[in-house]
Amino acid sequence: MIEMKRICHLIFRLLFLLDGGVWSLRNLSISVPRAVLSGEGQSAVLRCSYDLEGAMLYSIRWYRAETEFYRFVPREMPPTMVFSLPGTSVDLAQSDHQQVRIVNLNRRLSGDYQCEVTADAPLFHTDIRTAPLTVVDPPFRAPRLSVSRASYARGDVIQANCSVDEAYPAPNITWILDDHKIAESVSWRSSDMDFKEREAFSRLELTVHEAEHYKVGLTYTSSNLNRAYQDHYIYDREENEDKEVVRYTMVPPPTGQFTLGCVATIFDIYARKSDLINIKEDTPHPASVTGEDSSGAVSTHSAVLTSLCASAALLHAL
Ligand SMILES: *[C@@H]1O[C@H](CO)[C@@H](O)[C@H](O)[C@H]1NC(C)=O
Ligand SMILES: *[C@@H]1O[C@H](CO)[C@@H](O)[C@H](O)[C@H]1NC(C)=O
Ligand SMILES: *[C@@H]1O[C@H](CO)[C@@H](O)[C@H](O)[C@H]1NC(C)=O
Repeated sequence: MIEMKRICHLIFRLLFLLDGGVWSLRNLSISVPRAVLSGEGQSAVLRCSYDLEGAMLYSIRWYRAETEFYRFVPREMPPTMVFSLPGTSVDLAQSDHQQVRIVNLNRRLSGDYQCEVTADAPLFHTDIRTAPLTVVDPPFRAPRLSVSRASYARGDVIQANCSVDEAYPAPNITWILDDHKIAESVSWRSSDMDFKEREAFSRLELTVHEAEHYKVGLTYTSSNLNRAYQDHYIYDREENEDKEVVRYTMVPPPTGQFTLGCVATIFDIYARKSDLINIKEDTPHPASVTGEDSSGAVSTHSAVLTSLCASAALLHAL
């Protein structure tokens, strides 16, 4: 009789399961910071959330590049097992059935992290999620900006170089003209997994020109242009390095001067600006000639730039 009851109970359970109802593992999601700084005392909390719908947790396991480094099995005593990752450790006090905190990170620990959750008997339903984490070694100094000249006459080309010290991963460089982003160069990424620090470099050729409006903005960059978005222009730098020049044309600013700067960024955890360089017109023309105030002129730049980039994207898509 008791046996019968048990069987009925089991069938009842199974029907629920088949119905997709209960005791299954659902909504597994991983949350890992995209980037963290390296160094003693730096840490990252990796989380996994899930819904067991009434089932018990059998185990949660964490992997880095397919190597398990933390396991939590509530039924076992002690429930926690740690397998060391080189140079780092797991903070047991802040690790449990949902999260693991790793401390003292170094850039060699960059890579894909995974959490694998298994529900308890009878189904041992298992699921796994992956997310990338990059451990960042930022550049030592601010980016350095040099310009070929600090004054211009109309029609002149001003050359500017922005260079950034070695870092992991190589930073992106954004060009800033009077507080507006005009272009972004994206550092090469395909060999990031060798964990080497790399320098970053970007070259800009700026022409100050009484140009037709459709010629204002980014006029040319490298051949290996890969995409344009909004008012930024993005290209890969490494290939054919010599030819990698960002060319930008601006109308003469009514104030007869502008500032140029560059910013090195690594994901959302590092951003550092170069010194700004103020560039003045040799013989300033009065502002009334153009009939625009400085803010008007700037928004004209961006509007034209946006449409230029849109056409570049269009051309590229063809
Ligand atoms: C789990 O996912 C379902 C749909 O798949 C959703 O309706 C529900 O709100 C989610 N629950 C949680 C806790 O996120
Ligand atoms: C920019 O870098 C290039 C190549 O490294 C160099 O030839 C040029 O003189 C530099 N220009 C400035 C203004 O620093
Ligand atoms: C550089 O920019 C690209 C495109 O926005 C982005 O995908 C990449 O993560 C950035 N790299 C770094 C190191 O910030």
